[in-house]
Amino acid sequence: MTERVTIFDTTLRDGEQSPGIALNTEEKLEIAGQLTRLGVDVIEAGFPAASDGDFAAVQAIARQIEGPVIAALARATATDVDAAWKAIEDAARPRIHVFIATSPIHMYHKLQMEPAEVKEAVIEAVTRARSLCDDVEFSPEDGTRSDADFLVEVCRAAVAAGATTINIPDTVGYATPGDFGRLIAKVVAEVKGGRDDIVISAHCHNDLGLAVANALAAVDNGARQVEGAINGIGERAGNTSIEEIVMALQVRSDVYDVETGVTTTELYPTSQLVSELTGYPVQFNKAVVGRNAFAHESGIHQHGILRERSTYEIMDPEAVGQAGTVLALGKHSGRAAFRDALEKIGVEVEGEALEDAFARFKQLADLKVQFTDRDLVAIVDEQSSAEDLIELLAVHVSGGTTVTPRAKVRVQTRGMEFEYDTEGDGMVDAIFEAAIAAFGVDATLLGYNVRPLTPGSDAIAEIEVTMRINGGVYSGIGVSTDVVEGSARAFMAALNRAAAANVAKEVAAAANE
Ligand code: KIV
Ligand code: ZN
Repeated sequence: MTERVTIFDTTLRDGEQSPGIALNTEEKLEIAGQLTRLGVDVIEAGFPAASDGDFAAVQAIARQIEGPVIAALARATATDVDAAWKAIEDAARPRIHVFIATSPIHMYHKLQMEPAEVKEAVIEAVTRARSLCDDVEFSPEDGTRSDADFLVEVCRAAVAAGATTINIPDTVGYATPGDFGRLIAKVVAEVKGGRDDIVISAHCHNDLGLAVANALAAVDNGARQVEGAINGIGERAGNTSIEEIVMALQVRSDVYDVETGVTTTELYPTSQLVSELTGYPVQFNKAVVGRNAFAHESGIHQHGILRERSTYEIMDPEAVGQAGTVLALGKHSGRAAFRDALEKIGVEVEGEALEDAFARFKQLADLKVQFTDRDLVAIVDEQSSAEDLIELLAVHVSGGTTVTPRAKVRVQTRGMEFEYDTEGDGMVDAIFEAAIAAFGVDATLLGYNVRPLTPGSDAIAEIEVTMRINGGVYSGIGVSTDVVEGSARAFMAALNRAAAANVAKEVAAAANE
């Protein structure tokens, strides 16, 4: 039968110990409520002896949150154990979590206790905790730098005193999957033995980026509880990330053959809530819950995804509560993704129009990092309005308030390139003069409008112009991250329209002769 791994969430205790995080009771209650929807088995609500605020928050959670076990942390002292119990005694399913360090470094420098004294403190504290609460967890802090035989001796004493969960912390994130797995195997063999009522747990820190890997090694070696925090928050580099361990166990159930009670669709909402309330952003490329976890930019990947999602995704984004696969349009994107993005916003372009719009998109992609739907519409609009009898190749302006503004435009028509260099009353006027010189027409500017399409310093602007040319009124749109270039494009678009209309008139006149 597939065994269950208990998910012990310590976002509100170890996670809240992260520098700069200070959640009030209301926020902790909100997170605890969301953790309950997520389906974690245990919520470590805090460390009641640490402060009055912590005590109050743990008590509020114990009283109001129904479903998961509510755990409170305590050092191996009578006062801590009593404070922990007082805070959680009203919970439907309370747990006291007693800890004391067992490594030589901690015992000597921090506790200034002999190993025998540490063992005695464990026996006394666990006995006291068990006299108050049926569910007691014991953790030998800095377990991975402890003498393994001493660690086993202390854990056995904790079990004898009534602890039913033995949690092995890699407090400073020092372990590697190999040695942590071996330590867990030893604890399973020598502390749990054959007992079904004893659960071995893993609590891994991420100082070497190995927390999730170490937790998986623990499960592989018989641990049936994993401790962690949402978004992997916690002391220093943080704890095992709940979303990562849960999805690793689920996606690779072929390897681990265990299950959790987590409702995975709640992972992303939980991550977002914790990020919002703690003020800790989620890194873009964070596994499972990062905004790029299901975003693909390379043309090859996008092409694969459009054919078959599993080519580049091992999880369904919706299964973890993310909105869906994102084909991020950028300079690495291909035509297929570009067309797909247009189709999604209801813009259908085919053939040459698609080619033109795609070419323009690629030009802009070199200048702009991300594209919004509005950007795409603007690109297509600009391309579809351009008849391109004369094509703009480059524009350059110089001068300013003290030197007369000049504009140079380089254009191409019928395979030949020409350059026009003109002065104007201002930059826009100089560009306007250069554009009409290229067409050899007289024109009047009737309207000039700049509209930023997207926020940010790399925003795309849409420039719309209206011109009177040869007695007709023509408008043009130019889209660019650069207003000078956008203006030139808009003038050229209007002039090309006028030229196309005149050609049409001439053709019609010739046909009537
Ligand atoms: O990292 C650690 O050792 C802890 C214990 C209190 C379990 O957080
Ligand atoms: Zn910890």
